[in-house]
Amino acid sequence: MRSLPINSRSGPSTILVGERLENLRAYCPVPQPVIITDVNVYDQYRRMFPPAPVIVIGSGEKEKNLNTLRRVYEQLVALGADRDSFLVGIGGGVVCDITGFAAATYMRGVRFGFVATSLLCQVDAGIGGKNGVNLNGYKNMVGTFRHPEFVICDPRLLKTLPPEEIRWGLAEVVKHAAIAAPDLFAYLEVHHKQALTLDDRTIERLVYDSAAIKAGIVNRDEMETGQRRKLNFGHTFGHGIEKTTAAAHGQAVSAGMILACLLAEKKGCLAPNDTARLAALLEKLELPVRLEFDTSAVLDAIKKDKKKAGGQIHFVLLRRIGEAVVDKVTIEELAAVLADEKKNGLNLSL
Ligand SMILES: NC(=O)c1ccc[n+]([C@@H]2O[C@H](COP(=O)([O-])OP(=O)(O)OC[C@H]3O[C@@H](n4cnc5c(N)ncnc54)[C@H](O)[C@@H]3O)[C@@H](O)[C@H]2O)c1
Ligand SMILES: [Zn+2]
Repeated sequence: MRSLPINSRSGPSTILVGERLENLRAYCPVPQPVIITDVNVYDQYRRMFPPAPVIVIGSGEKEKNLNTLRRVYEQLVALGADRDSFLVGIGGGVVCDITGFAAATYMRGVRFGFVATSLLCQVDAGIGGKNGVNLNGYKNMVGTFRHPEFVICDPRLLKTLPPEEIRWGLAEVVKHAAIAAPDLFAYLEVHHKQALTLDDRTIERLVYDSAAIKAGIVNRDEMETGQRRKLNFGHTFGHGIEKTTAAAHGQAVSAGMILACLLAEKKGCLAPNDTARLAALLEKLELPVRLEFDTSAVLDAIKKDKKKAGGQIHFVLLRRIGEAVVDKVTIEELAAVLADEKKNGLNLSL
């Protein structure tokens, strides 16, 4: 087991990589926490939960909204939860977002921790202290900034995840490596098979390094004004594709990272060889480097995101594998990349 401390404004937080769900009780400051989980995780793992009241929510993104939160608050009231209660979210990103939001707001804030059960949650969603829910179809429109006191990342829980969920998690690991860790990138190039088959040592390294990269960036920029934007690598195009096609987030981000590299190449900031290296790694991890989409629909979706962000597009450009910068770009520059890609396809040279 390896632990990773995070210093946040809301107090210390520790990521516990390789810890077991069965040891959860040892980390809770009260004898009986209140557990929040989703129906899938409850069905698979409830026998490993410590004796405690459990609030079970439905599974999936559609549940990440204010109606679910309202039901969680009502059950907390019915359980007699008060300011001294401790909440534990056991689940993927949806459960952890709901739990973090509920904990930050119930009675103006109670203490909480996570057991991250999906790879995406262990490497990304569970780390960083952002807890958002969707509003009228807009993703993460309302939310809080508050860190859990701990995040238990138990690799054994990943064995029951649907295989595609492993790949979606790996897309974010590649993102972290591409923006900040050339050594992790090189490790993935060698250990891609072990990553896909959830080899214990490989997963422990990927989870630890990924969490450390995200935590390091978040420590430097907790409220997302500068550095933290780098975590959006691949996500400008990715969100546009995700909103306008049937692609899952992980697939859209994968193809979005390649489009972002093509823009970096166009701006003379990235060598084509690095784009080809990224594409080769994504393919080894069975992630798409190219998706079918409607260019004008994707651009419209990006324009909507831009409005929400105050009219500017802060875009993450790779300078090389392991190093990224944030720069403002225009919608015309994005349009030109999409048009090129449509016309010429991907022209990757290793
Ligand atoms: N707060 C943040 O900083 C942040 C960052 C990235 C993503 N997110 C959010 O995270 C969410 C996505 O997270 P996710 O991919 O974990 O989705 P999820 O929580 O919906 O989990 C994916 C699916 O896997 C199931 N599952 C989870 N663990 C399992 C296990 N061990 N065995 C079997 N099935 C299991 C879930 O029930 C669900 O059906 C999105 O809502 C996204 O916005 C938040
Ligand atoms: Zn993402």
